[in-house]
Amino acid sequence: MTSPVAFDVENNIAWVRFNRPEKRNCMNPALNRRMMEVLDELEYRDDVRVLVLSGEGSSWSAGMDLKEYFRETEAKGLAATRAAQRDAYGWWRRLRWYQKPTIAMVNGWCFGGGYGPLFACDLAFAAEEAQFGLSEINWGILPGGGATKVVVDLLTLRDAMYHALTGEMIDGKKAAAWKLVNEAVPLADLKDRVTAVANILIAKNPVALKATKDAVRRVGEMTYDNAEDYLVRAQEAANSYDNEGRKEGIRQFIDEKTYKPGLRAYDL
Ligand code: ACO
Repeated sequence: MTSPVAFDVENNIAWVRFNRPEKRNCMNPALNRRMMEVLDELEYRDDVRVLVLSGEGSSWSAGMDLKEYFRETEAKGLAATRAAQRDAYGWWRRLRWYQKPTIAMVNGWCFGGGYGPLFACDLAFAAEEAQFGLSEINWGILPGGGATKVVVDLLTLRDAMYHALTGEMIDGKKAAAWKLVNEAVPLADLKDRVTAVANILIAKNPVALKATKDAVRRVGEMTYDNAEDYLVRAQEAANSYDNEGRKEGIRQFIDEKTYKPGLRAYDL
């Protein structure tokens, strides 16, 4: 049987793909379980510096599998339903706090449950042709699995409300205007653009990248004073993993004068 998740590692980028194109990459329990295994396998590999999540075929992900994730699982009872939720939410959570920076490369359809992994990725780039929708309302449920939280965190309240209540799709350009993704480019240019962004990240200190991505997610819910304190402690914790990196960054600027931190990263 074909694996529901495909991946290749090339030039320090792990290209991970939802791989049920015939089902528009909707997420069934098998895909969710396999995705966690793939994330495990890639997370601490030395040759993986950035992870990109995209989809095979015309879809990024058509959300949860209405047949296998909802109907068939619910028919097995509450324990099975909770187990399926744990598997899905589990890998999205794992991705939110992943050791390496992550990029969603949204090549096509992105619906409902797809907003979980979309938000979990640190950055998101979409094809202008991609279509995004909270289609839950169209088949009679609320946007669960975090999807409501995702749009409230990323969009204005008016846009989030309209998006959730109407179930209308927006294309990649509008998703970028609404800040659901960082940027939209024509599908033909999407991989090149994502590769260029990944290469920017690959040139940075990996310990600083992990500390920074966690800090950006954490401080949003903190008061200024709590954030100030957290950031001091987070940097000091980062120093225990990489106490030489920042010293080298200062040295190349102040002593060697070989680069300017305002303009680019120091040589790793
Ligand atoms: N759950 C289960 N099966 C799905 C899903 C899904 N979310 N999405 C697509 N499929 C299946 C179809 O049933 C079809 O199966 P079949 O070949 O056995 O008949 C196959 O994938 C291909 O789908 P089509 O509808 O034929 O593909 P098309 O390209 O015409 O349309 C589209 C793509 C618009 C994505 C359509 O499949 C669709 O509306 N899917 C559902 C999207 C959705 O609302 N997802 C749920 C969001 S809510 C949530 O995730 C909690």
